Amino acid sequence: MIWSDDRSPDTAEAAICAAAGGTTASEITAGETTLGVIGLGRMAQALVLPLIEAGLLDRQRLRAVVASEASAERLRHSHQLVVSTDPLQAWQAPVVLLAVKPQQLEGVAAALAAAEAPPRPRLLISVLAGVTLARLQRLFPSCLIVRAVPNTPCLVRAGLTGLAWGEGLSAAQKEWVQQLFARVGEVLELPEPQLDGFLALTSSGPAFVALVAEAMADGAVAAGLPRSLAQHLAHRTLAGTAALLHERELHPGQLKDMVTSPAGTTIAGLRHLERAGLRSALIEAVLAAADRSRELAGEAAEQPVSARVDHFLTSQQPSVQRLG
Ligand SMILES: NC(=O)c1ccc[n+]([C@@H]2O[C@H](COP(=O)([O-])OP(=O)(O)OC[C@H]3O[C@@H](n4cnc5c(N)ncnc54)[C@H](OP(=O)(O)O)[C@@H]3O)[C@@H](O)[C@H]2O)c1
Repeated sequence: MIWSDDRSPDTAEAAICAAAGGTTASEITAGETTLGVIGLGRMAQALVLPLIEAGLLDRQRLRAVVASEASAERLRHSHQLVVSTDPLQAWQAPVVLLAVKPQQLEGVAAALAAAEAPPRPRLLISVLAGVTLARLQRLFPSCLIVRAVPNTPCLVRAGLTGLAWGEGLSAAQKEWVQQLFARVGEVLELPEPQLDGFLALTSSGPAFVALVAEAMADGAVAAGLPRSLAQHLAHRTLAGTAALLHERELHPGQLKDMVTSPAGTTIAGLRHLERAGLRSALIEAVLAAADRSRELAGEAAEQPVSARVDHFLTSQQPSVQRLG
């Protein structure tokens, strides 16, 4: 079994058997592998390392694959994981997490197709940005497919994961996948077309927010604070603001108004941000990330997400204005 959590071994094993599409309990117990990972890079590590550290995933049950021997050696040394450069090592597992870059997908599929591999895994969970269920199903026709969009805060078990299901998964299989990602954060089921926007906000978003944190710390340094203190204060300000928004279920505009007194310091700063176009810049950044997600998948839509939104805005009544 994979999990050593509060579920009974029988339940957990049954769930994995179900996830594996009917693989027998004896195969799983006797098998060398339980969870395969093809592409143990930043995203896959953000998912599996917290599980291992929390004792929820047995590191001996992980069969990870990377491209270079240097990366494999580094991971073996730093995390005592079983890591190879042969995709078949992971492909033997009943459940495989696919986490290479979208540009590396065809190479992986070709390597697996060329090998004399048994028809495993039964369940393939892809985190590749923009790569559609239909394309994954074409490349891996014998697999049940799940498309997942996790984000890096999974590393501290504060992640967000969007899930879209391929054809044929049972309720038990879906529950198993949901539980996998629930261990590192919140899980949402979404219609597949919404996943590009979801990724743009939640996966690229941490970089946008980090940029804001860095810039705010720079501002405090300019105002005379030591760098380390400025950074600490910027992080705590972002974390505290997020907690306040979330726990009090405030609209961001409400929170802004709460801290903006007439002719005060905050409105002076807000005037600068509006003049500099911060709001518009962030809107366009999220749209650009959504478009790029589709481009990287090699399946750029006839119209990118931003063009479709532009069309929507210009086709509306004159009262509908584009922001920014
Ligand atoms: N980072 C995020 O926030 C995020 C969020 C959502 C989705 N994603 C998706 O997650 C995927 C991985 O992103 P990442 O940021 O983790 O990339 P990354 O750090 O570059 O990891 C890619 C991994 O794939 C391995 N790899 C490359 N070619 C391979 C092959 N032919 N066979 C086996 N392994 C191979 C690489 O090995 P080497 O180290 O040896 O090169 C590396 O371990 C992408 O598809 C991305 O769209 C990422």
